[in-house]
Amino acid sequence: MTEAKLISALNEENLSHLSKTYVPSRLLLGPGPSNAHPEVLKALSLNPIGHLDEAYISLMSDVQKLLRYTWQCNNRVTLPMSGTGSAAMEASIANFIEDGEKILIAKKGYFGDRLVDMANRYKAQVDVIEKPWGEAFSYEEIKYEIETKKPAIFAIVHAETSSGVLQPLNGIGDICRKNNCLFLVDAVTSLGALELLIDDWKIDLAYSCSQKGLSCPPGLSPFTMNNRAEEKLSSRKTKVPNWYLDLSLLNKYWGSDRVYHHTAPVNMNFAIREGLRLIANEGLENVWNRHNANAKKLWKGLESLGMELHVSEDYRLPTLTTVKIPPAVDGDGFRNHLLRNFGIEIGNGLGELSGKVWRVGLMGFNSCDENVDRLLNLFDTELKKFSIFESSTF
Ligand SMILES: Cc1ncc(COP(=O)(O)O)c(C=O)c1O
Repeated sequence: MTEAKLISALNEENLSHLSKTYVPSRLLLGPGPSNAHPEVLKALSLNPIGHLDEAYISLMSDVQKLLRYTWQCNNRVTLPMSGTGSAAMEASIANFIEDGEKILIAKKGYFGDRLVDMANRYKAQVDVIEKPWGEAFSYEEIKYEIETKKPAIFAIVHAETSSGVLQPLNGIGDICRKNNCLFLVDAVTSLGALELLIDDWKIDLAYSCSQKGLSCPPGLSPFTMNNRAEEKLSSRKTKVPNWYLDLSLLNKYWGSDRVYHHTAPVNMNFAIREGLRLIANEGLENVWNRHNANAKKLWKGLESLGMELHVSEDYRLPTLTTVKIPPAVDGDGFRNHLLRNFGIEIGNGLGELSGKVWRVGLMGFNSCDENVDRLLNLFDTELKKFSIFESSTF
């Protein structure tokens, strides 16, 4: 190779003298990622082994068993996809939509919009029902829409991270079965944190992520589907138009064949095994109770400081609270102050709620009493420094 053609690290900003990778310490109390559990980080730092090594195959089986427990299902096809939550979201669309297939999407925030975008890209016939960001759909509304629109798939986000709404799901599975429709649920901000009963609620397919309730870094997206979804998949007339996310191919690796599809991100699977093991060790119901109790404490504390919450308590999401930014407060200033001076991240509002709310997350390992106290204390002592008008109160 001629030296002239080599783009030299030495000439480009002196790259050879960069310091070792350094990451500041942060407490992530935003919409995600959340902090990983220290035991998860230990697992992540183990040396990789081969993705067909028998020790790894055995670890894969553990991950699948633990996922079935955390999803509360007996589904054969239950696996962590390589990629963040959006990967399994896209798999849920790519595998179950054929050209012109009718999907009904109940949209009440930013992630409903993402489902609509994906379904359009896969050439579905998309019907959308909408709610303002901050509200949930009622059982009757969903029943009416499914019965009149007769979609092949009904999709809804369980925990809308953009608005802070928890969508009740009980009963929708029965409506879907009566109307010969698959029930698809986005559980990115609920799996491993909030009550979610895949079998009992008759959810046919669902996806999530690793970086919230499971206390892992981002990188994997748990997915599960039942026999109804398997039947729909096997009745496809055309090939799944996405090779990487083709569930039949993926299941040859995660199912009994254990045939190579792509090189698994083995360390992320070490990590998720550990995150899931910690959940099983604590007990799923204890995990749900912990998230509910810490969220309630946060809500009470914020309200007693004069803050207003965006979502009514009936539909408020314990993993992600949307807090109205008082009109007299520099919202970005406060958020940046928490990050720069206290190492604490809270989120800005997303989409139409940008600049109107802060998003406070209590997920997985981070859902603890101490973090709630710390944040409430900072709202109490620091927020007043960001008042736009000298004498204003919130
Ligand atoms: C409800 C919901 N769905 C989907 C996603 C997309 O997941 P990811 O960003 O991991 O790709 C997110 C991300 O936060 C989310 O909150």
